[in-house]
Amino acid sequence: MDSFLIKGGVPLHGEVEISGAKNAVLPIMAATLLTPEPCVIHRVPQLSDVRFMTQILEWLGAKARLDGGALRIEARRIKGHADYDLVRKMRGSICIMGPLLGRLRKAVVSLPGGCVIGARPINLHLKAFAALGAKIRIESGYVEASAKKLVGGPMFLGGRAGSTVLGTANAMMAAVLAEGVTFIESAACEPEVVDLANFLIAMGAKIQGAGSPTITITGVSQLHGAEHEVIPDRIEAATFAIAAGATNGEIVLKGARADHLRAVIDKLNEAGVVVERRGADLVARRNGRLQAVDVTTLPYAGFPTDVQAQMMALMALTPGISIITERIFESRFMHVSELARLGAEIEIEGPSAIVKGGKPLSGAPVMASDLRASAALVVAGLAARGTTQVNRVYHLDRGYEQMDVKLRRLGARIQRIEES
Ligand code: EPZ
Repeated sequence: MDSFLIKGGVPLHGEVEISGAKNAVLPIMAATLLTPEPCVIHRVPQLSDVRFMTQILEWLGAKARLDGGALRIEARRIKGHADYDLVRKMRGSICIMGPLLGRLRKAVVSLPGGCVIGARPINLHLKAFAALGAKIRIESGYVEASAKKLVGGPMFLGGRAGSTVLGTANAMMAAVLAEGVTFIESAACEPEVVDLANFLIAMGAKIQGAGSPTITITGVSQLHGAEHEVIPDRIEAATFAIAAGATNGEIVLKGARADHLRAVIDKLNEAGVVVERRGADLVARRNGRLQAVDVTTLPYAGFPTDVQAQMMALMALTPGISIITERIFESRFMHVSELARLGAEIEIEGPSAIVKGGKPLSGAPVMASDLRASAALVVAGLAARGTTQVNRVYHLDRGYEQMDVKLRRLGARIQRIEES
């Protein structure tokens, strides 16, 4: 398993190209199952999650070909039963259920199971499918949704932590070919949901209200192929903006969209990191001393849970007390114990982490546990004195395209140690 070796203390300067959004491209790739015609997706990030989703689509019978950054997918004939092991390994693959149900009226996938950040139930996904007339069966680790026909209707997707991003994606993809009109109440409003809706509309779907809590879908009889460019990854952009603040540097986030990052930009500004527009890009830099701030993660347009860990790393460097509260997932503090190895002083009180920041961090070997926790450890290592070794960076490769290469181009002393 690869690791990163980071010699901290170098202010990062320069430009970084923000890749296509992982959390947009995965459901968009799944949506290509809704038509037998070829689709072309541009600005596809080279991530292990994307390679994995490609394997799943090919296993289902689709043909996929990568031309540079463009991914061509043709799902002429497909089967509705996804391989147990393939689906089990990547939770995001649950979003193939909606299109399989929409196109074949039947979808069988392995229950995704939880992960280190939480139980990750799919009850709201299944509620959406049942609202369209599907029968749900759970047996020997598989979940099956099937329907003689899908009929549009109302559904409420609000759960204990707000809405569900992939649940909204699945509901839309199952409803676009259903008869009649579907009303999704308490839909997720994330930009990645809007990007998926735009791709479905380009395929001929009739969708209104994406990006708002109420989405209306009028079913059509079939969808055609389409071409689409994936939105830039707002979480990657936020991660590099935080790295600029943590190392007292200045980074141009090429292609990043301010309108997807309002809560992050606002909070970073309060913390002493300015993120402002420069033409079609954003620029992030320190603005004087870092200030301790409190953060609570919320559904979009609130502060994103996927930036919580990285923000905690920044607050560990900041003199003062910062309270970071996680409202979306039940156990998304795996990075706390690893940040403590670098000298961070953080106490967990229920859904909150109390960060007593300001002591300089010193490098040490640390273990990545999940995608965004790994990013937090890299940010901390870039600012820590001495050398930090981040182990198991395969977690990071799931969601960040060539992060070590991009950081080196910004002046970071980081190298990837490949372990056979
Ligand atoms: C998506 O996961 C993202 N993943 C996550 O990003 C992101 O953290 C999350 O949305 C929230 O923004 C992808 O898009 C591939 P949810 P998703 O359903 O859709 C509960 C990353 O680091 N819930 O919005 O699986 C759930 O337990 C990843 O890039 C139910 O109760 O998340 C959680 O507490 C991590 N029942 C909350 O809702 C359900 O049926 C939000 O989950 C579904 C979800």
